[in-house]
Amino acid sequence: MSNQFTYKLLHYLPHPSQELIDLIDFKLQPEQNNISTMGKRELINWRGYTGPALRNMRRVEEPFQSAFDAWIKENITTQYQNSSLMYCHGSGFANGATSTGAHADFTRDYVLMYNVRHGGEDAELAFWQEKGQELIRERATQCGNYEALELVDSVKGPSNVWYLTNTRVLHSTENVSELRLNLQISFDTDIPAELL
Ligand SMILES: [Fe+2]
Repeated sequence: MSNQFTYKLLHYLPHPSQELIDLIDFKLQPEQNNISTMGKRELINWRGYTGPALRNMRRVEEPFQSAFDAWIKENITTQYQNSSLMYCHGSGFANGATSTGAHADFTRDYVLMYNVRHGGEDAELAFWQEKGQELIRERATQCGNYEALELVDSVKGPSNVWYLTNTRVLHSTENVSELRLNLQISFDTDIPAELL
């Protein structure tokens, strides 16, 4: 498959079970990742805001994690790099920021996500192209300068569906006003054939 895409909704994949969702600690307010590398970004005049960006906290938390990995292998695929929860709090860690800033992920080319909390009514996933650059970027590329970016795609939510994201396209989460929490299944460089 060509890597020239931003995201795809995979409607045919099964919803996570309620038993699995019930194992999530929705009250957790992590200040660090405990898996992977955490991007720390500064926003420059991002819709009028300059300062630290919102941060995504990827977390491996038991007992959820073991149940999640078992569920993935049974229902989605056995061919993945790792899995986790991702917490993004809309305020408290970066007052006034409503964006995570545009970035390519550090450790993976693709991720399959399912939003359990959306981050508020207006929260969306946005995809960007830096002026003068290719759409697909090296890993760990970051850009917090709003003026250097052109919006190429965006999607509200998404809700009640697994979505595959190309994390080498610069992307950000926008307009987060409350907890955004999703399930994540990472793929290093290849998307398993059974998903496509
Ligand atoms: Fe990301």
